[in-house]
Amino acid sequence: MTQRILSGIQPSGELHLGNYFGAMRQHVDLQERGEGIYFLADYHSMTSVRSAAERRQAVVDLALDYLACGLDPSRAILYRQSDLPETTELAWMLTTVTPMGLLLRAHSYKDKVEQGLQPDHGLFAYPVLMAADILQYNPDLVPVGQDQKQHLEMTRDIAVKFNQAYACEVFELPEPHILEDVAVVPGTDGRKMSKSYGNVLRMFWPQKKLKKAVMAVVTDSTPVEDPKETEQAVFQLWSLFASEPERDEMFARAAAGGLGYGDVKKDLLQRILAFFGPMRERREELAKHPDDIEDVLRQGAARARELCTPILESARQAAGVGPRHPR
Ligand code: ADP
Ligand code: TRP
Repeated sequence: MTQRILSGIQPSGELHLGNYFGAMRQHVDLQERGEGIYFLADYHSMTSVRSAAERRQAVVDLALDYLACGLDPSRAILYRQSDLPETTELAWMLTTVTPMGLLLRAHSYKDKVEQGLQPDHGLFAYPVLMAADILQYNPDLVPVGQDQKQHLEMTRDIAVKFNQAYACEVFELPEPHILEDVAVVPGTDGRKMSKSYGNVLRMFWPQKKLKKAVMAVVTDSTPVEDPKETEQAVFQLWSLFASEPERDEMFARAAAGGLGYGDVKKDLLQRILAFFGPMRERREELAKHPDDIEDVLRQGAARARELCTPILESARQAAGVGPRHPR
């Protein structure tokens, strides 16, 4: 049996190196392993983005990123979450069996409230929508970063609650595929790269802008001739684009002293440009044909609908929602 693999990314501006190495690259690699289903989570983005134009643009950008980075729509499914409104129907069915206490314990919710965000019901109910995204396909594998682990555990709890409430086995418990070996990619200031910290390197930025950002990566003030600490962001970023022997050599040079940060940054820039060059070209080409992107997403939603319809119908039947014998 081929494995069914499901994951989503929130559309929130062009991809940065953290998103690529932390999520997208894995999604693209995993499409070889089974039936990949990937979606652009525009409903989820409604919990933070309040501009229609921004959301539309972010969806197009993310679709372009996926396709440019190697997602093959003749193999994997790529769709826009809102093209499958069935998901929100399931989210409602699931929300009626979700304990308040479960949602109150969600780290991501608690973090945002602690940061002073005025929470609304959407933010609070976010994990239920995510459970619906997942359970509607009964996938075998859900690749996510560490930060999403708790959401997946909640998905399993919600599946159990539904099955218990209606004495059924409609939902299978999804296995998280936590991307643990994926190092956290540091940002230009040394903290985790994240758009909310404004410390990102976006690989499809115009070269000039990318160069400026790479040259601004923070370093300590060790003089050129002294040994350098390789835990620093500049070396960690550089290592993403180097083979192991290359890295060993670079780290040995750093330890020996005489290595200038400027040279490492210049080489880092060259490596980023070389690595993403073919994808950049592909992205530029794809961007010229917005109708084709739209076709990919629509066809993706149609294929996704075929997969989720029987499971949704089982949920309706189990709960006694809708007619007894659907046509
Ligand atoms: P951001 O932190 O910029 O808001 P998101 O939370 O939208 O990024 O992350 C989307 C995906 O990219 C998630 O699966 C997340 O685990 C991954 N990701 C984001 N930033 C990093 C990083 N710095 N290192 C590794 N993975 C990351
Ligand atoms: N919450 C995920 C994130 O912020 C995105 C997401 C939404 C997702 N629904 C999902 C990931 C379902 C995996 C499965 O990264």
